[in-house]
Amino acid sequence: MRQPVIYLTLFCTFLTFAVSGQEETNYDEDKVPEYTLPELLVSKNGREITNSRRWNRIRRPEILSMFEEYMYGKIPGELNIESFRIIERDENALGGKAVRKQVILEFYGNGRNLEVHLLKYLPRGATNVPVFLGYNFGGNHTVSNDPEIAPTRSWVRNSPQRGIEDNRATEQSRGDAQGRWDIEQIIDSGYGLVTLYYGDVFPDKDDFTVGVHPLLYSEGQEKPLPGEWGAISAWAWGLKRVMDYFEEDPGIDQEKVIVMGHSRLGKTALWAGALDERFAMVISNNSGCGGAALSRRRFGERLGRMNENFPHWLCENNSRFDWDEDSLPVDQHMLIALMAPRPVYIASAEEDRWADPKGEYLSGHYATEAYRLFGKDGLPSGEMPALNNPVMNTIGFHIRPGAHSVLPYDWEQFIRFANLHLK
Ligand code: GCU
Repeated sequence: MRQPVIYLTLFCTFLTFAVSGQEETNYDEDKVPEYTLPELLVSKNGREITNSRRWNRIRRPEILSMFEEYMYGKIPGELNIESFRIIERDENALGGKAVRKQVILEFYGNGRNLEVHLLKYLPRGATNVPVFLGYNFGGNHTVSNDPEIAPTRSWVRNSPQRGIEDNRATEQSRGDAQGRWDIEQIIDSGYGLVTLYYGDVFPDKDDFTVGVHPLLYSEGQEKPLPGEWGAISAWAWGLKRVMDYFEEDPGIDQEKVIVMGHSRLGKTALWAGALDERFAMVISNNSGCGGAALSRRRFGERLGRMNENFPHWLCENNSRFDWDEDSLPVDQHMLIALMAPRPVYIASAEEDRWADPKGEYLSGHYATEAYRLFGKDGLPSGEMPALNNPVMNTIGFHIRPGAHSVLPYDWEQFIRFANLHLK
C-alpha cells in the first residue's frame, strides 16, 4: 500500500515542478534554450525554394495556411462593406494643415449589423497621399483632444481612472492617447493617418457572441471552430475592409498604405500585412509574443501564458502547443517573411522585455533569406543593433530606450522608413 503512495507523491512533486518551471518567465539570455527554427526555404515535401517564383507559388501559400491553421485562425467567409457614411468633415483641422473626416463603414450578416468608425486626417489640398493605417486601443476620441471627434459607443474596458464605467467611454478619456499618435508630425511629413477603434470590430474579451464573428456564423454556431478566426484575425479582417474602402477614396494613394500597430495591435498589423498584399508596408511596434518575437526563444511572454491570459486572441488550435513551442509548425520569422518583398519595420523598446526585443530582431534576421530571393536586403547581422541605431533595409529595425509604448521617436523612424521605401 505504501509504495503507490510514495510513487504518487513523487509524481505530484515532479508535476508541480515541471509546471512551475514552465510558467516561470525567463529574462536571462543565458537561459534561452537551444532551438531549431522551422526551415523557411524548404517546402513541406522537401523542395528547396531557390527563387521568388517558387516562393510565391509554393512556400508562401504553405506558410500562410499554417499560420491560419495553427496560430490566428482562418477567416471563414466573405463579408464586404455594405455602405459607408461620412458623418463629419472639417477642412480646417490642425490649424488648417489637414482635412479631417469621420466615416462609418457598415456591415450586415445574419440579420445583425456592425459599424466601424474611421477617423481620417489627410494633408489639406493634397490628393493621392500615402497613409498610415492603425487601430487605436481606446476609441477614436482618445487620439486627439479635438471635441469634434465622436466618442466611441462600442464596448470599452472599465477603468475608473479614465472615467469608464459600464463599459462606456465618457469625455474623460478624450485625448488620453494623444501622446501615441503624432498626428502633426505625420501630416507635416506629407502622410495621412487613418485610425479606428479595435473594439468596433471585436471587443477585446473572451466572448464570441459580439463583434464581427456572429455576422459570419453558420446556423447554430456560437463560437469559432478550432481552426477559425480568433480576435487577431478578426481585427486583421477589419484592416482588410478599410483597405477596400481606400480603393474608393481618391484622397488616398492605395499603392502606399502602411499598416501599423502597437503591441496586440502590432501582432494584428503583421497578420493583416501577411493576409493582404495590398498593404505596401507593415510596421510592428513592440508586438512581442505572437507578433514579431520568436516563440522558440521562450523569453518574456510565452504562447502558453498568452493563451491563458487572452484565450480569445489566437485560434483554439494554438493551445495544443502551449509550453511546447518546438512542436508548433511555424515560428515568427516565417510571419515576417510573408511580407517579402514589401518593406517591414520592427520596433522594440529596451525595457519591454516581456516582448523580447532580441527575439523580435532575430525574426527579421531569419526572415532575411526570403527577402534575398527578391534581391532585397533584410537584417543581415545576427547581432541586434545598439539603442537608437535604426537599420533601414527592406526589413528595418530599431530598439530605443524606454518602455512599452509608441513615442514620437518611433514615429520619426516610421516616417523615415516610409520616405526611404515608399516615396
Ligand atoms: C499584454 C500581452 C501582450 C500584448 C500587450 C498589449 O502585455 O501579454 O502580448 O502585446 O498586452 O497588447 O498591450
